[in-house]
Amino acid sequence: MGMVKATIDGSDVLVPEGTTILQAAKGAGIRIPTLCFHERLKPIGSCGLCIVEVAGKATPVGSCETPVTDGMTVTTRSDRLFSLRQDILKSILAHHPLDCPICDKAGECLLQDLVFEHGITGVEPPAPSPKFTAPYATTFLKSWPERCVLCLRCVKACTEIQGIGALSVAEEQDGQRIAYDQDKCVSCGECIQVCPTGALVEKKTELRWRTWEVDKKIRTTCPYCGVGCQQLLHVKDGRIVKVSGVEDAEPNRGRLCVKGRYGYDFIYSEDRLKTPLIRENGYFREASFEEAIDLVARRFKEIIAESGPDAIGAVSCARSINEDSYQMQKLFRAVIGTNNIDHCART
Ligand code: SF4
Ligand code: SF4
Ligand code: SF4
Ligand code: FES
Repeated sequence: MGMVKATIDGSDVLVPEGTTILQAAKGAGIRIPTLCFHERLKPIGSCGLCIVEVAGKATPVGSCETPVTDGMTVTTRSDRLFSLRQDILKSILAHHPLDCPICDKAGECLLQDLVFEHGITGVEPPAPSPKFTAPYATTFLKSWPERCVLCLRCVKACTEIQGIGALSVAEEQDGQRIAYDQDKCVSCGECIQVCPTGALVEKKTELRWRTWEVDKKIRTTCPYCGVGCQQLLHVKDGRIVKVSGVEDAEPNRGRLCVKGRYGYDFIYSEDRLKTPLIRENGYFREASFEEAIDLVARRFKEIIAESGPDAIGAVSCARSINEDSYQMQKLFRAVIGTNNIDHCART
């Protein structure tokens, strides 16, 4: 692939052919405001905020969709661009409720940040619209359609990333809106993860916490299956209030399924086992891990001495990560000496 040379805000850049102006600017440490663009999606081109000036062109171009060409001279910040971006944001706010005090996204809302960055004040709040009377909701997600900025990230994510296509754009008399096909939706929450505003929110913890109250974000591996998706646990006062996928980590790159994203209540179950139990005289009693492991090791030795290693078998749990299942089979094959191994997901 050939390389092209251009100048962005006075800095020379050399990038592979096909690189967009937005990507080239990012590589040079130059931030261009965006709203619909998302790293994991193909450029959408719906918001117009990423406009830049290109020498020789009368009108600004969208940097997220326009490739760099050889000799191009680009300006990303100017009074004209600032004013045009302000106009775009004002036109969004003309249809957007000033809901921030009761919006779960407040504090990490891209629209809020862009409005602040562009110093917009004095926009009249919109009148309530009758088209927003029947919001979409599943067990885990809820839409606030009046907060939607029609960036289309959710539609693309549901199709491009999840391959489901439960979302689409509906043309209505008074404009466009996002349409939902409840029968197709699997409540994976990918649309919530990419939504830049509070138009899609998590139902199970709605209005129970503010984004700035999260005191820790703990990275961990999802405990539900062997894929090993990387999660971020958003913790407030020692309790998980939200789980998101880690955007830039393999193997899931931000994706999670419904279990990984919403199935964390078991952690707080009163029935959850937190210590080993040993059965004695028909009753369980609590034991330390040392005592429990010693007991298992002693019984294994006794069984092998009496009946040989093939009298023992092991089944690993589908909720174990691949590395744990690997270690389990290694232990039983190489140490115990039996090939009696299996995995519960196979049966
Ligand atoms: S989506 Fe953003 S700007 Fe709109 S109400 Fe929520 S926090 Fe405020
Ligand atoms: S929850 Fe998943 S399947 Fe449902 S609309 Fe959102 S992205 Fe599509
Ligand atoms: S629901 Fe969110 S992601 Fe979807 S179009 Fe509206 S603002 Fe964009
Ligand atoms: S970020 Fe380029 S059009 Fe929205």
